[in-house]
Amino acid sequence: MQRLLTGLQPSGVLHIGNYLGALKPFSELYFSFESFLMVADYHALTTLRQKDELRSNIRDIVKSYVAAGIDPNKAVIFQQSRVQEHTELAWIFECLVTVPFLELSHAYKDKLAKGLEANVGLFNYPMLMAADILLYDTDVVPVGADQRQHLEYAREAASKFNIAFGQTFKEPQAKILDSVAIVPGTDGKKMSKSYGNTIPLFEPKDVLVKAVMSIVTDSSGERPENVYQVHRHFRAEAELESLYSAHKGKYKVLKEALIEDIDAVVKPMREKYASISDSDVATILEKGSANAREYASKKMYDVREKIGVSI
Ligand code: AMP
Ligand code: TRP
Repeated sequence: MQRLLTGLQPSGVLHIGNYLGALKPFSELYFSFESFLMVADYHALTTLRQKDELRSNIRDIVKSYVAAGIDPNKAVIFQQSRVQEHTELAWIFECLVTVPFLELSHAYKDKLAKGLEANVGLFNYPMLMAADILLYDTDVVPVGADQRQHLEYAREAASKFNIAFGQTFKEPQAKILDSVAIVPGTDGKKMSKSYGNTIPLFEPKDVLVKAVMSIVTDSSGERPENVYQVHRHFRAEAELESLYSAHKGKYKVLKEALIEDIDAVVKPMREKYASISDSDVATILEKGSANAREYASKKMYDVREKIGVSI
């Protein structure tokens, strides 16, 4: 069986863009592979400074994996920071890959272009992600199109290591989940926690109602495009065409229809989410991380041998 590994950063509360672009495809793919689903908490540390927020986001990711239909007995759900081999291997890759190569990273360049100061963790981010993937001899990495470059970095790190120290790492394949287009947020731009334009996933229904009602509409086109572009992920386009033409100009009615369509999908997941306690999360992460550590420690044993630090 091929091995699959992917991860989500616990850097905010998940929204319906994360569901459609990541959680849903993961839940459809994972059982055809030996799957590792990671909570990338050390990646989130590049942006988060509030410990309570990080702790609650970590739990949110685990509950979200399970609520989206992933069975923790059929996939290894684990926490990056609990498998110390990840940061150890990242250091080794950092000694092999050059500064100019990392300077090409889109995430890093975007930060600089915005006039923001990038911390070293953000700069090295692709090497930690390479370690996440390569430690497990991963075959397939399902990620959104925005992560394509990170996969290139992982392949480069594998190749640099293999050339320097002998064949050790498998070069992984990206499985770009681009069948789902970018889901727009309430302002029509890409839905993203950093734009504050999200429609929440597991929050109570009144929060969903508020978010959908706040979708910006303009009267210039045939239909409220910002509403439609979210709606088409929840109902067949043929049905939507007639709904939107029957209620032309009635934005409130259309938004109410969208709320009900989102709620029909989200309600059972919201209930599942609520049924998972913090202590369930602790158990899942304890077991998953122990399981992951078994693979990672074997791999690192080999790596330490190869680079010459084991004497
Ligand atoms: P983020 O933590 O914002 O990078 O999101 C994690 C993953 O969720 C991304 O790699 C995408 O696969 C997915 N995702 C995030 N925002 C959207 C969006 N607006 N539309 C579709 N997929 C998204
Ligand atoms: N960088 C990914 C994101 O922001 C999260 C991530 C961290 C990841 N490590 C990974 C994804 C390893 C796949 C494999 O979405």
